[in-house]
Amino acid sequence: MRHTDIINKMTIEEKAAFLSGASEWESREISRLNIPAVFFSDGPHGIRKQEGAGDHLGLNASVPATCFPPAATVCNSWNEKLGEEVGEALGEEAAALGVDVLLGPGLNIKRSPLCGRNFEYFSEDPYLAGKMAAAYIRGIQSKGVYACPKHFAVNSQELRRMAMNSVIDERTLREIYLEGFEIAVKEGGAKAIMTSYNEINGVYANENGHLLKEILREEWEFDGIVVTDWGASNDHVKGVACRSNLEMPDPGLEPARELLEAVENGGLTTEELDACVDDLLEAVLTLEENRKAHCSNDFDAEAHHALAKKAALESIVLLKNENKPLPLLPLKENCRVALIGDFALVPRYQGAGSSMVNPTQLETMENMIGKYPVNCLGCEPGYRRNGEPDEALKNAAVRLAQTADVVLYCFGLDELSESEGMDREHMRIPKKQIELLEALAEANPNIVGVLSAGSAVEMPWHNYCRSIVHGYLGGQAGAGAMLDVLTGKVNPSGRLNETYPLKYEDTPAFRYCPGRERNSEYRESIFVGYRYYDTKGAEVQYPFGYGLSYTEFSYSDLKLSSTGTEFTVSNIGDRDGAEVVQMYISGPKKDIFRPEKELKGFRKIFLKKGESMQVRIPFDERTFRYWNVKTEAWEKEGGDYVVCIGANAMDILLSENIRIEGSTQENPYDTGKMKSYYKGEIQDVPDSEFEELLGHGIPDGSWSGELGRNDAICQLYYSKSVLARLIYRILTSIKKKSEAKGKPDLNILFIYNMPFRGIAKMTHGAVNMYMADGMVEAANGHLFRGLRMIIGGFFRNKRQNREYEKEISG
Ligand code: BGC
Repeated sequence: MRHTDIINKMTIEEKAAFLSGASEWESREISRLNIPAVFFSDGPHGIRKQEGAGDHLGLNASVPATCFPPAATVCNSWNEKLGEEVGEALGEEAAALGVDVLLGPGLNIKRSPLCGRNFEYFSEDPYLAGKMAAAYIRGIQSKGVYACPKHFAVNSQELRRMAMNSVIDERTLREIYLEGFEIAVKEGGAKAIMTSYNEINGVYANENGHLLKEILREEWEFDGIVVTDWGASNDHVKGVACRSNLEMPDPGLEPARELLEAVENGGLTTEELDACVDDLLEAVLTLEENRKAHCSNDFDAEAHHALAKKAALESIVLLKNENKPLPLLPLKENCRVALIGDFALVPRYQGAGSSMVNPTQLETMENMIGKYPVNCLGCEPGYRRNGEPDEALKNAAVRLAQTADVVLYCFGLDELSESEGMDREHMRIPKKQIELLEALAEANPNIVGVLSAGSAVEMPWHNYCRSIVHGYLGGQAGAGAMLDVLTGKVNPSGRLNETYPLKYEDTPAFRYCPGRERNSEYRESIFVGYRYYDTKGAEVQYPFGYGLSYTEFSYSDLKLSSTGTEFTVSNIGDRDGAEVVQMYISGPKKDIFRPEKELKGFRKIFLKKGESMQVRIPFDERTFRYWNVKTEAWEKEGGDYVVCIGANAMDILLSENIRIEGSTQENPYDTGKMKSYYKGEIQDVPDSEFEELLGHGIPDGSWSGELGRNDAICQLYYSKSVLARLIYRILTSIKKKSEAKGKPDLNILFIYNMPFRGIAKMTHGAVNMYMADGMVEAANGHLFRGLRMIIGGFFRNKRQNREYEKEISG
């Protein structure tokens, strides 16, 4: 232990209290021993430091900070160096604003395009997500601020996010859902990590010994602090026993009392308690030193705005640019442009929820277009973003389109489609926007679709646009970046971090995700995103890694060695530009089922026109490995592998075989019992095969008949109590009303998905678990018993909190 001297001076009450937060954003200070508090803030794409009363959903505005593009956008840059630069700027702003730990980056896997928080996450691919996250972390931490990658782990849906159980086999867990975190810890050197709300195979992430002790601490040698997501602690004693260091936000002193009791009755050892205290002491003392060393409480807002623009620029993806008769893009000088779409006036530049940043400034297409060499004839909103019909707006937009050479149509997902606390129900863009697109295309076929959306959408309207440029969510400087690309000032170089399927029903997990009752079954296993489409040979709208350029690249001379690949890339077009070269590995697929191929390396390179470059992509410990559930280790299957170099997952330009020695003879699978997995046909996996994959029976996730403390408030519809069902109906109607207005009500969404246990964890100590159980009793129809528990619990809890405070306030 690093701080035995301090630990020896701490009373057991102080130690227990130290392991949970003191306010919405702060850990507990022990002034008697000069142990400071540390300050946490969201993240991840800007600093959301609240002044005054904190609330974790951003109901109170935060101080202005640079709103960089969210992770989903910057991931399209495939540029680790850029990720590191953004991280540095985030670290600098955090330090300037007095934030010690930045709650991000988020790197959950985009299992389904419908997850409401996909805009906050990097990719459907763990290698790419991990590399980008590690880059952010290095950048943030270089400024003396801790990064806190989240949400560890297997947290890929928002529906009932605080009370759902991810049922997943060990191999899928390792290869898909943990690999990114492994890279973030080992290569990023993350000093903190946030546990997710959900259970993994029946054990909450924050008290999951397999995840936190065996994998994170022992295998990956993580030596930082584990922090719960806000309200994610279920059983604090179990969490501490797994070396989860800090329960957030501020649950009052009940969790501390639980620790004292556990130490007393042998449920927790003093060593376990001290180990947790020691990690946290190391963090708070280091962060205090860092804070002292950092003397500026200012940052260069203009320089960071410019960096936000650079990040957006490198991440814009040119999806389509028909060249017959001539490409519309880049726009010709002085061409007559009609700027249409509400997003041109009020941009969609970030998603909703705890990540929402108050930008230092905000560009719009309407305000910026005057600075570019085109003749903008006007700007018309054309549609209402809440979906209400408006013929007058539509007609004005069509009239404007008729007079122009080119229409820039700004459209995409609305605010309601991309929010924490809520998954999308479909992958479509709001109908009114598409109706307008059809009308515009009739008036003028020269349509450039300028898309804003932080996640994949269906594109049945694709043919109405001659060109499509996807800016994702561009952050505060996204509009200028988009105009730079549209006018050809900069050559687009973004590549998709996720596949765009033709339709939602094509997605691998569409029958399983989101899990509706308690369980979310990961039946599709490792076949996530392109791993599935590619294996199945399914047609997609745009593959993973895809993106066009105004120039052209050629690939040649692939050479393999035992340590990696080398090949030449040439810019054979007539403009300078950047290319993202991607290395995929196709395994032998003899005994082990595998995706057709998997991303194992990439590089972004910039080439002047006519220039060539020798590119090297090395192999690493991950290149050929798979997780063997029998040997419980990373192994290599012996056989011939194909090393593929390409411009995206479905455009392989060079390939070469390589023979790899196997590392074990143990075949973990009974091939005959898992046909769907060997064929890659995983959209409807029978129970028997999923059980074979899991290595045990499928847990029953159906409704048990009575509400429990871990059931979500939205499940009050099951309640026996008329009053509880009424509360459910009231909440649902408030939620619906906010949806009708087109703006998510984050408070309601949070409450909706929160289990009863969460009430005890999120009320700053006013409610304890006994009272929460009383609420459950009442909801189950035992109103009077429930009320007795609530009232009795209230007074006892208040007294106990007061006594404890006295104990530690000296
Ligand atoms: C989110 C986290 C966030 C935390 C604090 C939670 O609801 O899941 O990502 O960091 O709130 O705002």
